[in-house]
This record gives sequence, structure tokens and C-alpha cells, in this order.
Amino acid sequence: MKKRILVTGGTGYIGSHTTVELQNAGYDVVIIDNLSNSHEGVLDGIEGITGIRPKFYKGDCTDYKTLEKVFEENPGIEGIINFAASKAVGESIEKPLLYYRNNLVTLINLLDLMPKYGVKGIVFSSSCTVYGEPDVNPIDETAPVKQATSPYGATKQMSEEIITDFVRSGAPIKSILLRYFNPVGAHPTALIGELPNGVPQNLIPYLTQTAAGIREKLTVFGDDYPTPDGSCIRDFIDVVDLAKAHVVAMERMLENKSEEKLEIFNLGTGNGLSVLQLIDAFQRATGVKVNYIIGPRREGDIEKIWADPKKANTVLGWKAQVPIEETMRNAWKWQVSLTEKKEK
Ligand code: WQD
Repeated sequence: MKKRILVTGGTGYIGSHTTVELQNAGYDVVIIDNLSNSHEGVLDGIEGITGIRPKFYKGDCTDYKTLEKVFEENPGIEGIINFAASKAVGESIEKPLLYYRNNLVTLINLLDLMPKYGVKGIVFSSSCTVYGEPDVNPIDETAPVKQATSPYGATKQMSEEIITDFVRSGAPIKSILLRYFNPVGAHPTALIGELPNGVPQNLIPYLTQTAAGIREKLTVFGDDYPTPDGSCIRDFIDVVDLAKAHVVAMERMLENKSEEKLEIFNLGTGNGLSVLQLIDAFQRATGVKVNYIIGPRREGDIEKIWADPKKANTVLGWKAQVPIEETMRNAWKWQVSLTEKKEK
């Protein structure tokens, strides 16, 4: 019998790629998503890649009854991957309560339902944002969690604490917290990818939309940082690599490969790349020029951060594999497919 997994936020960017990898690995996936930042058409993409259409519920995880119905109607859910969360840093500053409600109530509801329905483990989408501006790079999991710079970041820190406290209370569950660095790219089939709402806030969707002529120019936020070329440094991780880490984490929990009830892993490549280096990699990989200018710094940006992924490499047995050029080609292929769809 296939093991059943609930993926909240499964039609979103990372959720959809993870659903594909779970199905490819033989899991039976049930998705709940309120479609606040995605749409049902993503299910066609998942089906196109895997040949399997995951069972889908349009619903809000902040509503306990809606969520409980999913557990009632799908007996035997063994694991949860929780992607259902709001994730725009700027918006979280304007609408903090929306962020606290969506991100924290969803998590509390899920944790509350786990023992009742015998769910063994939950993989939680956390972020390198919990480290703030690191004192040293690369950064490993033992680095201190620093004061959050936005309500979005605060919800990630609080969520980690909520899970930790619940596990420590003796709740019969396991959890793995995955701290993502900067997920980028798209599935190589270009059937799923990132679908930002409105004007993108993140670098890659803005870059690919500029290359496609949807945006006039990309602004690089600052070239006066104390880094080799003056632009910020990030650890850009391919979304398919990232998705695969979730499958490994789920297996680890469900097959009791670890004694630990709670584990934390950084998911990054271990390589820091500057914003200017990334633009250059995109141009080299695709042959497409990006119109960009240097602008002022963006408030709240971290200067440089990249992962020490040794723990994930050795303990999880997972390693990022897709070279950045391939990631950039996939991001571009996806952008082109979106433009073509619009023109049809
Ligand atoms: C990357 C770099 C920008 C846009 C945030 C969250 C993080 C995460 C991903 C979840 C920075 C620069 C960007 C642009 C630019 N989580 N940039 N011009 O800020 O590292 O991380 O998103 O969803 O938790 O904090 O990602 O892609 O916004 O920026 O120069 O138009 O690109 O200044 O240095 P960030 P990003």
C-alpha cells in the first residue's frame, strides 16, 4: 500500500514540485490549498509530469473543520508537509495579523489533528531568514536564531518554537524543520514553476519577466555592500533539488531512521552567489540579455548568507545537484511557456 501524505499548500511553488517528487517516489498525495497564491491548473502540470492527479481539496487550513474533514475522508495519512503559508516579506509588514493568523493557526490546527488521526510526522517549511544577518558564512544549524526583521520571518521562528514545544511535551509525533535558502528555477518539463502574483518581489521571477519584456528593467538593489562585486550574496537552490529533500526527510521520519523526534536541516548548495553573478549566469546559460540597472539598497536586505549543508549531506544523504546554469535555463523555459500560454 502506498503511504499517504498530506501536502498543505500543494499547488504552490515548492508544494507542487514536492508533490511531483513524492508521487515519483511512490507516495499517495492529498493536497489542500486555498489557492490564495496558486490555481487549480497546477494539478494539470503535476498530472502531466507524473501521470497521477493528486486528490485535491480547495480549503483553508486555518479553518479547523475544513482541515479535519480532509483527515476524516482520507484515513491513514502518515505524514504532513506544511507549505500552506503566506510568504511575502513586504506584505507581512503591512498586514501582520494576516501573516500570524495564516501561518500560525494553520500549523496549530495541523499539530492538533496529528495525534487524533495517528499522523506520525510533519515536515515544516522554514527559512534561512531565521538566522538574520549571519556572523559567519557558510552558516550551519547551530548558528543562533536572530531577531526577526519582518512578521513573515517571525512566523517562521514562532512556528519552529511551536513545533519544538509540542514535540517536547511528549506528543506522539516527529518533525523535521527544513530551513530553505533561496529556492529558484522550475521543473525541467516547464509544466510547473513559480507563479508570482502581480509584480514579483523576488529576484528570479523579476529577472525572467524582464528578459521576457514584461518588465522594462531589473533593478539590482545596491552594489555598495562589502562583498567582492558589491551586490548581496545568496545561496540559490534549485527547486527540484529542494523538493527531493522533502521526500528524503519524510522517509526518515516514517521509517524511523533517526532516534531524534525533532531535527533541523539547512537546505542550500553551500555556494554563495552574488546578485550580479546570478544575472551573469542567467545570461550565459540562456543567451538572453537582461536589461538591468543598479539602484539603491532595499531596506531590510541581508548582506550575505549561504548555507553549510553538511548536515543535510551526511545525515539526510541529500545533496543539491542541479548546476546553476541548468536552473537558470529551466527558469527561462518556464517563463517562455507562461508567455506562450498567455498568447494562445
Ligand atoms: C535576493 C537578492 C535582493 C529583487 C526572501 C525571503 C526569504 C525567502 C525568499 C520565502 C537580494 C536582490 C531582488 C530585485 C534585486 N523566503 N534583488 N532586485 O530577500 O533573499 O529572501 O525571499 O519565500 O525568506 O526573505 O530573496 O529574491 O527577494 O532577493 O536586486 O528586483 O536579490 O536585494 O539581495 P531574499 P529575493
